Amino acid sequence: MNIDGETRLAGVLGWPVGHSRSPRLHNYWLEHYRINGAYLPLPVRPEHLAEAVKGLVRLGFAGANVTVPHKEAAFALCDTVDDSAKKTGAANTLVLSAAGEISGSNTDGYGFIEALRAGARGFDARNGPAVVLGAGGSARAVVQALIDAGAPEIRLVNRTAARAERLAGALGGPVKSLGWSGAARSLAGAALLVNTTSLGMKGQPPLDLDLTPLPAGAIVNDIVYSPLETALLRAARRRGLAAVDGLGMLLHQARAGFKAWFGRDPEVTEALRRHVAADLLAEMERA
Ligand code: ATR
Repeated sequence: MNIDGETRLAGVLGWPVGHSRSPRLHNYWLEHYRINGAYLPLPVRPEHLAEAVKGLVRLGFAGANVTVPHKEAAFALCDTVDDSAKKTGAANTLVLSAAGEISGSNTDGYGFIEALRAGARGFDARNGPAVVLGAGGSARAVVQALIDAGAPEIRLVNRTAARAERLAGALGGPVKSLGWSGAARSLAGAALLVNTTSLGMKGQPPLDLDLTPLPAGAIVNDIVYSPLETALLRAARRRGLAAVDGLGMLLHQARAGFKAWFGRDPEVTEALRRHVAADLLAEMERA
């Protein structure tokens, strides 16, 4: 990597940010396309986010990704936001203009849909009801994307039923909310099951859900990507269902930012997947 006066800079704002795969992913693309740029992890405490973003503007950064826990706060700092950010009240991609204007978007929903298109042949949200487990920020982006993609019915299942109810009310459309006890029932006739909870993530309990009621032909997607192969995905494969891991969403959500900052629409290739997956595996082995 040659850093000089022309190097374009971007990074990922998070707290903590050490777990983020975005530096590995964006720097792979920078090297692959021989672009004079660098992408850095930017650990920023929540109380310092506004100052840090102003600092990035002053330092001439082209932009930044935003991860947990900053997405809602970043949205509030933007001068302009597109529909994807407006609908979710969150921004994961900031583009900083030379004049100091901050534009925000939320590409998580796009990344989610593209990952399903790439990972499950014949995926179409219009094919049937979707079950979404969880009601946090990720669920919000996923459910909004499914509404926009024409899902006829979305069953939102959450441990804290009131939170699912609130989210369903806020998003409108064909969203029904259920408590955790409704999870098994919600699978009947579903075309898609998505886990957006932290269950199954490294260090968390596994997601223990009997997939028997899912029809043959249903797609199971875990947005957890550490580990890549969760117990949920293993159970789906055992049943012969299409299983889509969480890495695709991460890779596809990154494209728009890279294009805006570095001027090239990057491809999500098998080599890129392997490059990021190898890093995830190495981390699992260290743990
Ligand atoms: P994010 O913004 O990444 O979606 P979040 O807002 O912390 O994260 O949401 C985490 C989700 O995982 C929530 O839906 C949470 O359920 P609650 O709303 O009931 O807290 C869900 N979750 C976390 N641990 C869980 C567990 N042990 N059992 C069931 N759901 C769990």
